Amino acid sequence: MTFTVAIDGPAAAGKGTISKAVAAHFNLPHLDTGLLYRAVGAQMLAGADPVEAANNFDLADLAQDLRKDDIAQAASRVAAIPEVRAALVSFQQRFATRGGGAVLDGRDIGTVICPDAQVKLFVTASPDVRAKRRLEELTGKGIDTDYATVLVDVIARDKRDSERDTAPLTLADDAIILDTSDMSIDAAVAAAIAIIEKKLN
Ligand code: CDP
Repeated sequence: MTFTVAIDGPAAAGKGTISKAVAAHFNLPHLDTGLLYRAVGAQMLAGADPVEAANNFDLADLAQDLRKDDIAQAASRVAAIPEVRAALVSFQQRFATRGGGAVLDGRDIGTVICPDAQVKLFVTASPDVRAKRRLEELTGKGIDTDYATVLVDVIARDKRDSERDTAPLTLADDAIILDTSDMSIDAAVAAAIAIIEKKLN
């Protein structure tokens, strides 16, 4: 049986950490689909045409540090281009269905990429909490930024991601909401695993 877990939600909600932990728990491969858009965004910042970059997407494009503010914004801009999204669909769907399944996280996994996923989670938190978590991640990596800058980035991307015409960030009908505003990351991981196990039984 192919067992697919779709994890969607707004920027910096903890999807990445939760997805990685869920994948390890269920022994499944994990794909952070945001990295695909970040890779295309990084190529756009370097002067490439985003549609061409998406059409020529290669796994090797992910072998660089893509988790920076300017790349996140560029990712959100290229992610609104229908041709860019179309070029990345089959890679994601092949990943989701190979072998015994997979955990994918992003914005449109439960709605567009894997509408038949066995479990769909929508991980969210207040903008304030998300900005604080992202600030901690970035400063932990030695990136010089501040709360206000990160909050503006998070809010701007949420708006663009939710308002675009193609595959906007939206709650799938059958998704379960996990609001992690008042949870530690360990508690959020435990809650996600409990939801998935309940769904499987
Ligand atoms: O980690 P964070 O939540 O900040 O962002 P990400 O998941 O790395 O995604 C970066 C950007 O890629 C998002 O703001 C979206 O614009 C875009 N994205 C998307 O459109 N669809 C996906 N499945 C994943 C990401």
